[in-house]
Amino acid sequence: MYKIVKREDLAPNVHLFVIDAPAVAKKAQPGQFLIVRNSERGERIPLTIADFDRAAGTVSFAFMEVGKTTREMGLLKEGDSLATFVGPLGEATHIKKYGTVVCVGGGFGTATVSPIARAMKEAGNHVITIMGFRSQSLMFWEDKLRDFSSELIVTTDDGSYGRKSVVTEPLKEMLQDPARTVDLVVAIGPAIMMKFVSKTTEPFGTPTVVSLNPIMMDGTGMCGACRVSVGGKTKFACVDGPDFDGHQVDWDLLLARQKIFIEHEKRALELWQCQACREQNS
Ligand SMILES: Cc1cc2nc3c(=O)[nH]c(=O)nc-3n(C[C@H](O)[C@H](O)[C@H](O)COP(=O)(O)OP(=O)(O)OC[C@H]3O[C@@H](n4cnc5c(N)ncnc54)[C@H](O)[C@@H]3O)c2cc1C
Ligand code: FES
Repeated sequence: MYKIVKREDLAPNVHLFVIDAPAVAKKAQPGQFLIVRNSERGERIPLTIADFDRAAGTVSFAFMEVGKTTREMGLLKEGDSLATFVGPLGEATHIKKYGTVVCVGGGFGTATVSPIARAMKEAGNHVITIMGFRSQSLMFWEDKLRDFSSELIVTTDDGSYGRKSVVTEPLKEMLQDPARTVDLVVAIGPAIMMKFVSKTTEPFGTPTVVSLNPIMMDGTGMCGACRVSVGGKTKFACVDGPDFDGHQVDWDLLLARQKIFIEHEKRALELWQCQACREQNS
């Protein structure tokens, strides 16, 4: 069992758990992910490593409540335990001195892009972070990202904080600015955001790394659930990624494959809510 040593509520439906997992902490690198189960009979879900502390033997992840398993996880408290905590999985993000690196985080992706921003800064890059949220009430980690970044831009869809725009607008302005050179863009967040970041950078030929989030089962390259198409070749995101060249990703296939279990996911959530409601009323 893996104890939750700290829980932080980042936004109403986004939480950060710090887990006691020394063996995972020892090897964790920015960009890698975990497979987690709430309980022995729970569903296995992949979550990106948001931070790690080798000395304390802890690993953190941030998750957004979207369906049955993440909502169930949202009920866990400090001191509770997770049944499964496997990792680090996947290839680490390639960290080196590129020059100017723009890190784009959308929603929960802001937490997962943060260790990459920190590592890129430590490697000597000029790091510009763009954090995008739907609204100020969903925003978190502005101070933390400011520490890890040379420049920070916050956007909200509704204009309640920072600049009223989507993340691609300030990014496009930077790419168009003759006084600037952007050497790499790293984007993490919803697939649709990563798609549009990639479409924005493509005409400028700016290398763009995205962290793909297809459906995953085993996370070790055995089941094929995480199949994606990159540069016309089939790749397994869990072992070949999750980082890929955003200009080479078949986004339509990824977005379609993310929806293949949508009816089952809806049903699972309804059944769980119904059971939770019965338990509350009994
Ligand atoms: C490599 C990777 C890293 C991820 N990192 C994070 C993270 O750091 N924080 C975070 O909040 N979310 C992350 N996700 C997404 C997270 O795994 C899903 O939100 C979670 O599995 C949803 O489970 P659910 O039962 O709550 O919702 P469901 O109702 O089952 O699903 C909601 C949505 O999540 C996606 N999903 C469902 N099951 C899986 C699965 N087994 N694998 C991948 N996606 C699934 C589906 O596209 C679906 O539309 C990551 C996904 C991948 C592949
Ligand atoms: S999750 Fe099974 S092959 Fe990647």
